[in-house]
Amino acid sequence: MSVLLTGGTGYIGSHTAVELLDAGYDVVLADDLSNSEESVVGRIERICGKRPLFYKADVKDRGILGRIFSENDIEAVIHFAGFKAVGESVGEPLMYYRNNLDTAISVLETMKETGCRRFIFSSSATVYGMNNTVPFREDMPRSSTNPYGTTKLMIEMIMEDLCRSDDTFSCVALRYFNPVGAHPSGLIGEKPSGVPNNLTPYIQQVASGIREKLYVFGNDYDTPDGTGVRDYIHVTDLAAGHLCAMKYSSDHPGFCAVNLGTGTGYSVLEMVRAFEKVNGVKIPYEISPRRPGDIASCYADVTKAKQLLGWQAEKGLEDMLRDAWNWEKNRTGRQESE
Ligand code: UFG
Repeated sequence: MSVLLTGGTGYIGSHTAVELLDAGYDVVLADDLSNSEESVVGRIERICGKRPLFYKADVKDRGILGRIFSENDIEAVIHFAGFKAVGESVGEPLMYYRNNLDTAISVLETMKETGCRRFIFSSSATVYGMNNTVPFREDMPRSSTNPYGTTKLMIEMIMEDLCRSDDTFSCVALRYFNPVGAHPSGLIGEKPSGVPNNLTPYIQQVASGIREKLYVFGNDYDTPDGTGVRDYIHVTDLAAGHLCAMKYSSDHPGFCAVNLGTGTGYSVLEMVRAFEKVNGVKIPYEISPRRPGDIASCYADVTKAKQLLGWQAEKGLEDMLRDAWNWEKNRTGRQESE
């Protein structure tokens, strides 16, 4: 029996592959490599001593998906494949709806036909929208502020409808807060293309001299220091949450949504200071206008994850920022020697 990870060579997919292989699962990765590289497969093998099976596949393609399911005994699917840049989704909404909805529906249709009934989905805290108060609880009303977020919300709704129509399906939506850091080995991590949208990859590039300074998007929010507060979670903790969700899905049919966060928020300036302290580097910054669509504070209520999945984040900010910088140094070093 194997677990299929769509988008399996991406940032969170690759760390989840390591977690599953270390726990003794057979792992099949499918990825179209639109935002990752095949060399990740070898690096996963270097970390775990076991190589996952890899298909270069766009999972919108029902033909390739059918082949993956017929060649492997897939017991569960963890669905990561999808576009994830909020700003890009505003400019290219059709591309986001087509890609993100199509991949999810193709995977679910194939599962329905083949009898595979356990689906774990990369959802996002973005589904809490702008109108809830922190900490965000899973039973709060959902909304979205951009096409990317709407695809997450719509896929959650598709999962709910599917579970209502067929009580043998188990669908778990994992609502990620802000994943950061990298595997402590420095072999896998996030590789943003172009100018990073997210805070930590941007800080990493300032630290390594690729960018001159960080632009802090607003210091007039209703937060202790005026800058945005987020719930940053180490990507290996997040990956471990998928393993717990996978186990949970084996004997819990129906839909459920679970937050994967630490429950603690840090501001942008706290992140900058922590990065400087942990890694001994200076991060010059400049306060700039708010970024449209950003909320002041976003952090999780983590009660349900503990109760339902028996999972909680173990690593702190120091681990996240040390591993993030270690990955950045390794990565840029590797690029220079290539
Ligand atoms: N920020 C800066 N400068 C930057 C980048 C970010 O000041 O260059 C600030 C933002 O304004 C925000 C914080 O840093 O206050 C975190 O921003 P990120 O872009 O790293 O993360 P977001 O919380 O905006 O977005 C993340 C994911 C989205 C997801 C969202 C849901 O990237 O995919 O969380 O909560 F939808």
